Amino acid sequence: MKILHISDLHFPKKLSLFSLRGKALVGYLNYRLRRKSKHPLVLISAMIEAISKLEYDALVISGDLTNVSHPREFENAKEILSPLLTDKTFIIPGNHDRYQKRAIGPNPLFEKTFGEWIGNSLDSNLYIRSKNIGGKLFIGWDSNFAIPRITATGYVAPEVVQKTLGLVKEPYVLVCHHPLWNPTNEIESKGHWMANRGEVVKQLKTNPPFLYLHGHTHTNWVKLPGKDAPFAIVNSASSTRLSDRSHECGFHIIEIEKSVQYRRFIYSEDKFIETNPIFYEESEGVI
Ligand SMILES: [Fe+2]
Ligand SMILES: [Fe+2]
Repeated sequence: MKILHISDLHFPKKLSLFSLRGKALVGYLNYRLRRKSKHPLVLISAMIEAISKLEYDALVISGDLTNVSHPREFENAKEILSPLLTDKTFIIPGNHDRYQKRAIGPNPLFEKTFGEWIGNSLDSNLYIRSKNIGGKLFIGWDSNFAIPRITATGYVAPEVVQKTLGLVKEPYVLVCHHPLWNPTNEIESKGHWMANRGEVVKQLKTNPPFLYLHGHTHTNWVKLPGKDAPFAIVNSASSTRLSDRSHECGFHIIEIEKSVQYRRFIYSEDKFIETNPIFYEESEGVI
């Protein structure tokens, strides 16, 4: 089984300022001025082309496909991703896909746009979604919520974890937008992290996933299984961002046979090339 994992695509889309207000307007201006140039179109095309040529059994996208959850951003994301949207694809939302109230309910834009690729709901009141791809079980959580302030805090309700652990009887891959662990040089602020991740990791220990795939912090890593989190944690964010001194961007292919192999791909000059993954022991960071 080869799992290709991309994240935090933040596809650029020019929006009319008149169609935005409040948090969305501030968020959009911030994105135009500070982040748009980091996600150039040439890199996005190169990523789609590279993935189209690679062999994989499952494609996981762990959120942040948009910037301010605007309907036109969702349409644009679907159009760009269309060559990759197949029955092998599994998508979950990131905080930028839940940016505004209209992005949550009762007719949420994320579900409306990507409903075919988000798996089946395992509970009518909680976001727990599952998809079987090539005989492997993928579980998706939504760690985001629309809050009026410009913060990116995450949270996964204890019921979500309990219910998941009760339902899952086979080795599974867990996909969620927020990190459960960060290297010591990439500690997240309180306005950016999953507020209750310590409890989530503790609960997961009773029936741990095989792998935890996430994004949100825009630099890649692979945390190897450890004492407190006995599973690998892979960050593939951001797959569409230019790397710089503090952002090691790209995506991963995780090959699961008798052993697990991690492969990493980065944008270099005008194409994606394979390079070494960035591995950490659990003790080199914090939960
Ligand atoms: Fe992001
Ligand atoms: Fe995020």
